[in-house]
Amino acid sequence: MTDLKRACLITFGCQMNEYDSGRLGRLLTDGGWILTDRREEADFIFFNTCSIRAKAAQRVINHLEQVRPLKKNNPQLLIGLGGCLAEQEGEALLAAAPWLDLVIGPQHLPALPGLLEKIQTDDRDDRRRSLTGAGANPAWSRENLAALGQGPSAPEARISSSVTIMQGCDNYCAYCVVPYLRGPELSRTAEDILDEVRHLVAAGVQDLTLLGQNVNSYGRGRAGGPTFPELLVQVAATGLRRLRFTTSHPKDLSPELVGLFRDLPPLCENLHLPIQSGSDQVLAAMGRGYTRDRYLQLVESLRAARPNLALTTDIIVGFPGETEADFLETMSLLETVTFDALFSFKYSNRPQTRASALAGQVPEEEKSRRLTYLQNRQKVITLAKNAAHLGQTLEVLVERPSGRYQGQLTGRARNFKLVHFDGPPELIGRLVPVSITEAWAASLRGRLIHA
Ligand code: 5AD
Ligand code: SF4
Repeated sequence: MTDLKRACLITFGCQMNEYDSGRLGRLLTDGGWILTDRREEADFIFFNTCSIRAKAAQRVINHLEQVRPLKKNNPQLLIGLGGCLAEQEGEALLAAAPWLDLVIGPQHLPALPGLLEKIQTDDRDDRRRSLTGAGANPAWSRENLAALGQGPSAPEARISSSVTIMQGCDNYCAYCVVPYLRGPELSRTAEDILDEVRHLVAAGVQDLTLLGQNVNSYGRGRAGGPTFPELLVQVAATGLRRLRFTTSHPKDLSPELVGLFRDLPPLCENLHLPIQSGSDQVLAAMGRGYTRDRYLQLVESLRAARPNLALTTDIIVGFPGETEADFLETMSLLETVTFDALFSFKYSNRPQTRASALAGQVPEEEKSRRLTYLQNRQKVITLAKNAAHLGQTLEVLVERPSGRYQGQLTGRARNFKLVHFDGPPELIGRLVPVSITEAWAASLRGRLIHA
């Protein structure tokens, strides 16, 4: 072993990446590494990247440029790139950035500690390595899933956590690069998942999110295992206080799953259900597999099952061929549904995707105009939704000191809204009732009723 010791992991993008980085951190610490937040003192800097939109990819490249000078002070420093951008552009980046030592695709992450070991014992000239390839070997991927899924051996006292239940995606939405980079859908076994959940519950986790690109199709292609609703029931039975899942695809949201919002008390009243567009013509061109009406029916049945469900969604503006009339259909859908919050994006042309070859690409300025218009309107809707909580008492799971004001704590309500209130740090990790006194677009403020 050489003198390389400190690793700094920097994560971009989705919750899946956060989860992967958490597990990678554990693999590294098991192998003798110390984790640090400070790039300047690290012997290994690893960027776990996202390339879902061109802007996300550009951000990573900027960061990569920033760490380049650190090699001057520490010639032994290793710089690595993982995640979707590594899978997509890894070889090109290795060629363009001579200070980059390794690239590794998302499906190969468990091999990273071994790869580092190898690089450290190599000759200096021969250090650079790359390990990519999505979905080429399903058997190997299954091992990978199991390795990534093992819960922390020395449980961190975490209050809220997440567990990946599947990886990859088979949907090939016309705009999306994920299936090309994360490979085909692969579900973990229920036993693996339940083992990990029990481990986390024993470590004190009370609020758990099940993760996957499309959790509703969990178990598809795996004979004999539970369906996603059955899995939720089994996970809830471990004694968790709060259970959530993301991301859901509307086309696979079954009546059984909707029914759980009525029948499974730990299942929290929040759901992220990406619609992408309110226009049937655009939805068809995206290959989403549902219509506007079908989506609205789903919302109605969900709200019938759980009237106080907080709904969030994703919207893409400026998909190729999107007309002003199509865009106005999206605007009218926002008025009809009244989402609690939304994540909205300008369409970004991604390599390999079907949409990148479509005619009718919308000019950048027009995409920006639509995005601003939509976001301004949604801000008002979100504020009104949050203001509806004024005077209500919400159960808050206290997560941390707020970081902004001394004596203030931050936690989440069951509907996932962020709540700030004054209280002593001993309350961290506890469920407390908070009366809501102020509402903003991104959070609520309240008064602790009693500890
Ligand atoms: N352009 C813009 N947004 C995209 N998303 C996925 N691919 C693209 C793209 N090419 C958005 C979708 C998805 C979210 C995670 O990212 O809204 O639901
Ligand atoms: Fe991408 Fe569609 Fe799969 Fe979501 S469901 S990851 S948008 S291809």
